[in-house]
Amino acid sequence: MTEPYVVVPPVAGKILNDRSGNDTSSPNPHDDTLDELQQGLLAPTAQVSPKFLYDALGSRLFEAICELPEYYPTRTEAAIFELHGEDIAAATGTGVTLIDLGAGNCAKAARLFPSLLPRQYVPVDISVDFLGAAVEGLRQRFPQLPIQEVGMDFSSVLALPDSVQREHRLFFYPGSSLGNFAPAEALQFLRRLRQALPTGEAGGVLLGVDLVKAPTLLNAAYDDELGVTAAFNLNLLRHLNRLLDADFALRDWQHRGFFNAKLQRVEMHLEARRDVLVHWRNGGQRRFQQGERIHTESSYKFTAEGFADLLGQAGFGEISQWFDPQRWFMVCHARAV
Ligand code: AVI
Repeated sequence: MTEPYVVVPPVAGKILNDRSGNDTSSPNPHDDTLDELQQGLLAPTAQVSPKFLYDALGSRLFEAICELPEYYPTRTEAAIFELHGEDIAAATGTGVTLIDLGAGNCAKAARLFPSLLPRQYVPVDISVDFLGAAVEGLRQRFPQLPIQEVGMDFSSVLALPDSVQREHRLFFYPGSSLGNFAPAEALQFLRRLRQALPTGEAGGVLLGVDLVKAPTLLNAAYDDELGVTAAFNLNLLRHLNRLLDADFALRDWQHRGFFNAKLQRVEMHLEARRDVLVHWRNGGQRRFQQGERIHTESSYKFTAEGFADLLGQAGFGEISQWFDPQRWFMVCHARAV
């Protein structure tokens, strides 16, 4: 049985590897990607952008993380949507052009379809293969919904194709993914979303935001007993081996994930278990001493007030916030003003 839907004319075609040309899953990555990776690996404190956690396997491991008892954000956010769904739809309005940033398996957005009745669904994700498979399933479930998938690294440039409708755009960025940007980058990112919303028309953002809480909860969420987060983090080295023809040996590295209270963020690192020498394409190499780390992710945690302030700085207003009873997580809607 298919699901209820607003009928609007379909939009043609799918766009993958669009604009940025920067599909990081590709065995022949763009020069910019290679430069970015090489620079990060050679920095005094080595670092790799968290976007490289998401090759096809990384995306699946992240899905598994979302099922873990320790990883509260996914289920807490879902509970907020469940509890406050009507109020959220009243704030966003219906018939939206739903632009799902970092769509992954598209499941979170699909749950909103019955209440938001989007006129067009635009899932955007860097992990092109993973997105393609998810969209395939959605087309069968919602045959009347125009879907325009976009394979793109939207972390630095948001170049949406012209086929993305401009009316009533709603940027959906759940899961506290905004927390994976450094504060200045998060502000820039929100400003880019604001610029992509036509002035004078209804439009806004719907965001999931993780809140500051007890370090024990945060440490467990990012260093789970089963070791799924460790596998997710270590898989980044396999991805680098493919992208850079590098020779990282996974057994030489271990996962570290912990809350840094001073910076209000959870950090993930890969730590060398012993002294290692790593080589990559075109003669690149680096020696890592035992205990030396590669910083792979920061996950900033917010307060409700601090986040409202950030939205204001980015040009958003009329902010609505919804919480779970423990105030671990927040869903936030704001309009372009
Ligand atoms: C995608 N992002 C919001 C997740 C987070 O919580 O920062 C990624 C993640 N890293 C480890 N566990 C989950």
